[in-house]
Amino acid sequence: MDLAQEYGTPLYVYDEATIRGRAAAYREGLQGAYPGKSLVCYAGKAYCAPWLLKLLASEQLGLDVVSGGEFFTAQRAGFPIQKMYFHGNNKSEDELFLALEAGIHRVIIDNLEEVERLSRLAAERVVEQGVLLRVAPGVEAHTHAQILTGAPDTKFGVSIDTGAAREVAQAIQRAPGLRLLGLHAHIGSQIFEIEPYLATVRRVFDFAAELRSAGNFELHELSPGGGFGMRYATEDQQALAPEAVAKVIAEAVSGEAWQRGWPLPELTIEPGRSIVGPAGVALYRVGSIKEINGVRTYVAVDGGMADNTRPAMYGARYSAVLANRVCDPVTDTVAVAGRYCESGDVLIKEARLPRPRVDDLVAIPGAGAYQLSMASNYNLVPRPAVVVVRDGKVRLVRRRETYDDLLSAEVM
Ligand code: LLP
Repeated sequence: MDLAQEYGTPLYVYDEATIRGRAAAYREGLQGAYPGKSLVCYAGKAYCAPWLLKLLASEQLGLDVVSGGEFFTAQRAGFPIQKMYFHGNNKSEDELFLALEAGIHRVIIDNLEEVERLSRLAAERVVEQGVLLRVAPGVEAHTHAQILTGAPDTKFGVSIDTGAAREVAQAIQRAPGLRLLGLHAHIGSQIFEIEPYLATVRRVFDFAAELRSAGNFELHELSPGGGFGMRYATEDQQALAPEAVAKVIAEAVSGEAWQRGWPLPELTIEPGRSIVGPAGVALYRVGSIKEINGVRTYVAVDGGMADNTRPAMYGARYSAVLANRVCDPVTDTVAVAGRYCESGDVLIKEARLPRPRVDDLVAIPGAGAYQLSMASNYNLVPRPAVVVVRDGKVRLVRRRETYDDLLSAEVM
C-alpha cells in the first residue's frame, strides 16, 4: 500500500531474495548433481534490466541474449562476456558483429545462412568463434502452441529428423573461423513435465554420436534449454522445484555420457521465467466498477494488456488479491479488466476477490517474467515503474515513463 502511494500505479515490485534463492537453487542443484562443469544461463528475454543482470551476475549465473538490445544492456550492466551466449533465429549482421567484437563466449547457430555470415565475420577478425548448434529434437512437450519450439513444425533450430541438423553441423565444421563445440535444444516454455527434457537429452546424445562417428566432433558442451514451468493461478499445476529439475537433468546427462564412455560435456540450462516470474508482483489501482446485471462485473484497473499481454496473447491465467484488504472475506467473482481500448484487454476473467471498491489495490503475483519485457506503449500510456524490495528496504530501479519519453524517438 505504501509502495503504491509513494511510486504510483501500475507498479512492478520485485523481491530480491526470491530471485537470489531461485538462481542459487538451480546453480547448486546442478553443481551438486553434476560432476562436470555446469552453468545456469538466465534467459534474458524473460526480463532484461541492468539491476537484474547485476544481481544475477553476482549469483554467478550466465546469460542468454537474443538481440543487440539485450546484449547492449548486459554490457552496460557489466555482465561478464565469458558467460554470455547469443541466441536467435535471425541475428543480424550488425548484432553478430557487435557480439564478436566484444568477444562473446558462444554464438548458438540456428540456421545455414548464419554459418556463412558468422564465419565471414569471424575470419575477418582472425578469431575462432566457439559455437553451439541449435537442433530441433522433435520432442513434443505439452504447453501452449505459441510457446512450443521443439516439435517438428518450428522456426527454431534445425531438425535432427530431416537431416538438416547434420548438414548445418558439417557446414560449421568446414567454415573458417568457427569451432563447433556442442549442441543446444530448447523444447518450449511453461513445461511442467520432466520427461520431455530427458527425451531431449537422449535425442541430442544420439545425434552427437552420429556426428562423432562421421569424425571430427566431440560433445564438449550441451544445453537442453529452459522452459521450466511456474505457477501463476492458484488452480495451476504445482511447478517442479529448481533443485529437482537441475538434478534430474544433470543425472540424465552424466548417465548418457558415462554409458557411452564420453567425457562429461559442460552442461548449461537456461531458465528465465522460473527465476524471475515468481519474484514479481504487479500492483494496480481500481478506477471503475461496472456491474452488468446477470452477466459480469468489470473491475477496471490502471494497467492491462500493454504491461501484461499474456492473457490476451496466450489465454494465460492469473489470480489476484486486494492488497489493501487482504483479510476481507472473498465474496465475489469479477473480471479484472485493463484500461486499454480493446475488448480483449482483460487480465483475469474470473477473479475471486472481496467485493472491490474504487481505489482498491489489485495485486497480481507471478508478474516477474514476460510482462515488462513484452510491454508496449499501446494507447501511448507510459510504462510502469519498477521497485525492488530487499530486507524491507525499497529501491526504485526504473522510473515511470513520462509523456516526453513517449515522444523521445519521434522526429518533430
Ligand atoms: N532458452 C531459449 C532458447 C528460449 O527460447 C527460451 C524462451 C528460454 C530459454 C527460456 O524459457 P523460460 O525458462 O523463460 O520459459 N513470452 C512467452 C514465453 C516465450 C519463451 C521464449 N523462449 C510467455 O510469456 O509465456
